[in-house]
Amino acid sequence: MSDDVSDGWAASASAWIVEQGDDGDYGRRFVLDAPMWARIEGRGFHRALDVGCGEGRFCRIMQRAGIATTGIDPTEALLARAELDPRGDYRLGRAETMDVDASFDLVVSYLSLIDIPDLGRGIAKMVAALRPGGTLLIANLTSFNTAGQPDGWISDGEGTLRFPIDHYMDERAIWVARRGIRIQNWHRPLSTYMTLLLDHGLQLRLFSEPQPLGGDPERNAMHRRVPYFQIMEWQKPA
Ligand SMILES: C[S@@+](CC[C@H](N)C(=O)[O-])C[C@H]1O[C@@H](n2cnc3c(N)ncnc32)[C@H](O)[C@@H]1O
Repeated sequence: MSDDVSDGWAASASAWIVEQGDDGDYGRRFVLDAPMWARIEGRGFHRALDVGCGEGRFCRIMQRAGIATTGIDPTEALLARAELDPRGDYRLGRAETMDVDASFDLVVSYLSLIDIPDLGRGIAKMVAALRPGGTLLIANLTSFNTAGQPDGWISDGEGTLRFPIDHYMDERAIWVARRGIRIQNWHRPLSTYMTLLLDHGLQLRLFSEPQPLGGDPERNAMHRRVPYFQIMEWQKPA
């Protein structure tokens, strides 16, 4: 058995698997997958570690580029779905305590940094898993967005939708709920992430705020009003 999952993931796993389907939810399908894939395809990566791989969808995508994937996740019910994939190597575990070789040329965190309670230990382990010169590719919810949770969009007194943010500098775990999923996300100011990554001597190679491509125009317009996602690529010194 995994140690806890008081963060809600065990109880939310089956709804999460339904929400992702084959193509991922809105944010993955229409916003993040394409720019994440663009950082992977044709780069010559051989071995990737997906930290917080969930039900394994992004491991399966990376395999299309001929990459051998290892996925790690503490939620047994998600990992059981991932393990239906015969080509991947999947391991039960947490970022903070994972025990992997320092041999990966690519480490991916696809919307999992917000799930890791001890982020400092988690990032240290991700960096340790990279070979010198290796790449850490991160998709994350922006800190501006997590500072607006759990309410997100609300209607002001005039009936206009607003997305208020508050207590930006205060790190905290926030319960968020939708469609049978109830999980904890961590809010941390952007400087917390940047400082931890810079303190490992990593070099920032890409920073982007991807916008929707395709998808429902009305939903895309709402998405463009608020900072949602960022992608960062960091390189470990050779
Ligand atoms: C938002 S989901 C993302 C899953 C997958 N990367 C994707 O994009 O579909 C976050 C994942 O982080 C996992 N997780 C929770 N705590 C974690 C930890 N301490 N270390 C690594 N992963 C964790 C959860 O089990 C969940 O699968």
